[in-house]
Amino acid sequence: MEFNIALLKGDGIGPEIVESAVAVLDKAGAKHGHKFNYNAYLIGGSAYDATGKPLPEETVAGCKAADSVLLGAVGGPKWDALPGDLRPEKALLGIRAALGLFTNLRPAKLYPALKDESPLRADIVAKGFDLMMVRELTGGIYFGERGRREGKYGAEAYDTECYSVMEIERIARVAMDSAMKRRKNVISIDKANVLESSRLWRETVHRVAKEYPALTVTDMLVDNAAMQLVKNPSQFDVVVTSNMFGDILSDESSQITGSIGMLASASLGEGKCGLYEPIHGSAPDIAGQNKANPIATILSAAMMCRFSLDIPAVADDIEAAVDAVLNAGWRTADLAGTSGVAPLSCTEMTEKILEAL
Ligand code: IPM
Ligand code: MG
Repeated sequence: MEFNIALLKGDGIGPEIVESAVAVLDKAGAKHGHKFNYNAYLIGGSAYDATGKPLPEETVAGCKAADSVLLGAVGGPKWDALPGDLRPEKALLGIRAALGLFTNLRPAKLYPALKDESPLRADIVAKGFDLMMVRELTGGIYFGERGRREGKYGAEAYDTECYSVMEIERIARVAMDSAMKRRKNVISIDKANVLESSRLWRETVHRVAKEYPALTVTDMLVDNAAMQLVKNPSQFDVVVTSNMFGDILSDESSQITGSIGMLASASLGEGKCGLYEPIHGSAPDIAGQNKANPIATILSAAMMCRFSLDIPAVADDIEAAVDAVLNAGWRTADLAGTSGVAPLSCTEMTEKILEAL
């Protein structure tokens, strides 16, 4: 089959890692008789520099017309002084909202080959972990009313956490459907001892859970969850949580795997088109130096094959190639910490994965 992919390379290391993923996609796809056509669009700081807007209309239209979207990363110190609405990050929120991508899947699993990279104690790592973070992506405090005003103590600023029953129900269903294909356990994370929006979240999750008698669905407060993730990560199968809690906890869950450079993500809506991106940022400190770990983006491309393009055999091949390269001991600089081997560059790591394919 033939697929049209929108490429949003973005800023910093974005172009390098997207190029790696494209090379891997092409090779893995060709093995199964598939062809990818790519159209690149501007997003983030580089889009602002070229057009004065971090998310040009042409980019949104191009993504809407594509079968799926592959994104690198946005942002960097160069654009830090811009007002909120012109910041590169605003483009990421804008494209998620424009495509209706309310689900963010962030899998975090321990690769046995990388167990020494995990900052957790060996006895905790020995139990292994493989969790799927399901983060709500187009609601909550990220999209609630915000502003500045005069308050009791002078100038103040506010951001609002707001969730509708509909938004909670649909993300709960995604999490529960995903758990049905996994270990049948869902932990819903909230702050229901303090927040009214969390109490509605909890009530709604419990109601949806009645439709899934095969699942074990429990609640966990977010502060406890932050602790449990480092104390006993093997207890988590599927985690479902709000936009901001999911943002924070997914960085935590990625780091316990050894490196944030390994973690892929899928953002999905009602339709088939999704946006796939590594969960790490644009790493301006190493941009243009051919040092970045391309694996998170390559694994994001594999998720795209699985969830949007329905070519799971290509996804399996890409994931197996990454496994093989890690098992053979190859590492990029972010992972070279304890292995003693000289780190590979971004292009060398890509070559190894292409060879393994
Ligand atoms: C992420 C990032 C984004 C978010 C930023 C860059 C807007 O941290 O994808 O996790 O907070 O969602
Ligand atoms: Mg984040």
